[in-house]
Amino acid sequence: MIELHALTKRFGPFTAVDDLSLSVGRGEVLGFLGPNGAGKSTTMKMITGFLPPTSGRISVCGHDVATAPREAQATIGYLPEGAPLYPDMTPAGLLRCCGEARGLRGAALKSAVEGAIERTELGGVTAQRIETLSKGFKRRVGLAQAILHDPDVLVLDEPTDGLDPNQKAQVRSLIREMSGDKVIVLSTHILEEVEAVCSRATVMAEGRLRFDGTPAELRRRSRFFRSIELHLEGSPEGAQSALEGLEGVASVEALSASAFRVFPQDKRALLPQVTALASERGWSTEHVFVDPGRLDDVFRVLTREGAQEERSGTTFEQMSADKQEVSR
Ligand SMILES: Nc1ncnc2c1ncn2[C@@H]1O[C@H](COP(=O)(O)OP(=O)(O)OP(=O)(O)O)[C@@H](O)[C@H]1O
Ligand SMILES: [Mg+2]
Repeated sequence: MIELHALTKRFGPFTAVDDLSLSVGRGEVLGFLGPNGAGKSTTMKMITGFLPPTSGRISVCGHDVATAPREAQATIGYLPEGAPLYPDMTPAGLLRCCGEARGLRGAALKSAVEGAIERTELGGVTAQRIETLSKGFKRRVGLAQAILHDPDVLVLDEPTDGLDPNQKAQVRSLIREMSGDKVIVLSTHILEEVEAVCSRATVMAEGRLRFDGTPAELRRRSRFFRSIELHLEGSPEGAQSALEGLEGVASVEALSASAFRVFPQDKRALLPQVTALASERGWSTEHVFVDPGRLDDVFRVLTREGAQEERSGTTFEQMSADKQEVSR
């Protein structure tokens, strides 16, 4: 339903989106991840016909965005970054106005506006001027405007940005609920959000795709995936070398005299061997934790400057250990 072919956008000498090709089908919820300035919003602006590409082609529901923009746009609901709105209108007035622009009239318009208000929980503020609404409510008006005409394609630029935790959860479940018969493309800086709502995750950096796969595959990329953190009581002698000697163990890192992190070879499951060794040696375990993988590490490795594209094989295993908060 969305086809991007060799899409490129240059601003003067700067290339914001670089030769991007992607195809997204009905039922897919595709998440764009990437650092600030990666080109996520620029890509979304081109998909929705808001910004013309420098080169390349975009087709949405079979309509070429360059030659048939109205037909393409009729199929799209778009929540732009920052959700620009008319501040002196009320949510109800704005939604009616957008509905009319979408060609809705009479009972169809009324039911579309009421439906969008209900789904975005705007009932209490429909008659309040938009400029007096809080940030999260403004964002929800933007979302209501995007889903108003029940479009086949939704392009949502950071849909949960600025929402409180309850509203984040509500918007995520709304996205999941709508996903069945639509194609949804969203961007986010919340790495866990991709797992919560997306069937497909892409990572962009410097205008290029660095990863395209499922959220589970993304997490698997972490060097911590299936590593085992083992905290023992006391400091049993020879524990590290015994762990290192287990079949399938790649390496063992001592976290303290009594705590170890055991890394598997080939991302295999190690828990049975580790617990068997502990009982054989009579070690008392205080705490055992199988790491599900860490998205922030994967993100950092995939997006660091000069990193190779996913297709050409990354060196993500050699990631540095420094901790840096990348989700917000
Ligand atoms: N109109 C413009 N003129 C010049 N440069 C632009 C323009 N629009 C975007 N850029 C540049 O293109 C790059 C990509 O911007 P874009 O907004 O697509 O990033 P993003 O991935 O959405 O980032 P963020 O996570 O901060 O929203 C940035 O370096 C930005 O400064
Ligand atoms: Mg952006």
